[in-house]
Amino acid sequence: MIAEGKRNMTAKSSGLEGIIVGDTAISTVGKEGLGLTYRGFDIHELAAKSTFEEVAFLLTYGNLPKSAELHAYREKLIKLRRIPNELKTVLELMPRSAHPMEVLRTGISMLGTLESESTHYKDHQIADRLIACTPSILLYWYRFHQFNEKIETWNSNEPTVAGYFLYLLHGEKPSDEMRRAVDVSLILYAEHELNASTFAARVTASTESDFYSAIVSAIGTLRGALHGGANEEAMRLISNYKTPEQAEKGVRELLAKKAKIMGFGHRVYKKSDPRSDIIKEWSKKLSANARDGYLYPVSEAIEKVLWDEKKLFPNLDFYSASAYHFCGIPTPLFTPIFVMSRLTGWSAHIFEQRGNNRLIRPEANYNGPGPRAFVPVDQRG
Ligand code: ACO
Repeated sequence: MIAEGKRNMTAKSSGLEGIIVGDTAISTVGKEGLGLTYRGFDIHELAAKSTFEEVAFLLTYGNLPKSAELHAYREKLIKLRRIPNELKTVLELMPRSAHPMEVLRTGISMLGTLESESTHYKDHQIADRLIACTPSILLYWYRFHQFNEKIETWNSNEPTVAGYFLYLLHGEKPSDEMRRAVDVSLILYAEHELNASTFAARVTASTESDFYSAIVSAIGTLRGALHGGANEEAMRLISNYKTPEQAEKGVRELLAKKAKIMGFGHRVYKKSDPRSDIIKEWSKKLSANARDGYLYPVSEAIEKVLWDEKKLFPNLDFYSASAYHFCGIPTPLFTPIFVMSRLTGWSAHIFEQRGNNRLIRPEANYNGPGPRAFVPVDQRG
């Protein structure tokens, strides 16, 4: 990483825009002729033909699994779902008012003390463990504080991560349509090159810190509204409107006040986000059976205003919001689903960073005061 560092000593970029800081073999984002690919596979094909477990294996182990490998991987993830009692106690002690991203940040950090990298596990074992048990951590806390229930976290009724998450959330088998909708969304969220949270994970990994610390850095970074937190903000926005006309009027007013509309725009993509049309289709499909299916036309009206007024397009977060909502998922759990998925991309980047490490340490232009004489405290007046 930071291969270009020496050559670009004087280059400066606000928000590191356009700066290439190294090589990766994991994904391409918006590259001419490639678009979004995970290890060479186009995102449209993966979303149409694969499952999240195949994608998780592809990202963390480097290749699509053969049939027997996929079976063994699924079995392994099921066995790794159970969370330790000490962690359950911590989840019970956390406040009901905590944000679920705080719960994941702290829960995964706690797991790192119980199953620390140095004494228990190595790279891939930790990645597998976290992919398997993050829904357990999240929903143990959620069901305990919302319904005063202590759920079992070894359940194997639902073999996929998407099905397991929905099963733990609702306490019953999900419909095939909802299970597949969440599965596809996990595929879409899995990896996205050097987005802010992945970069944070790589910076932490580059100091030779432990795996859990790198993941916790990434979770804290993902939470912000400009990154993963945008899907929750998008839901809050669309929930304000009952009709497309109300939405159009309301969003025009927001734009007139120079407000940012969460779920729109992107640092790298300039014309469209290739993931958006895929999740939009799912949102439309799910809206047909939803009580508040009007939120889909409301979303389309907002999309049109943003395009007409600012030539801004929806990113993955915008239609993910209504798709999740139609699956009966509470809004504060949206960004944690992003974590459940992006753990795969973060893990792949931690492995890649460790495989060819150099400390990530850029420089800043100093624009503070010039040299000044120090005055002892008793003479400062
Ligand atoms: N709503 C309104 N205006 C916007 C939006 C938006 N969502 N996005 C960009 N703009 C405007 C900015 O106000 C700015 O206008 P100006 O030049 O008149 O000041 C211009 O477009 C450039 O925007 P920046 O914020 O400088 O673009 P940047 O590349 O830094 O930001 C970002 C990209 C953070 C994604 C931005 O588009 C944004 O804030 N979007 C909303 C948050 C969001 O949806 N984040 C999710 C990202 S994707 C993901 O995590 C899956």
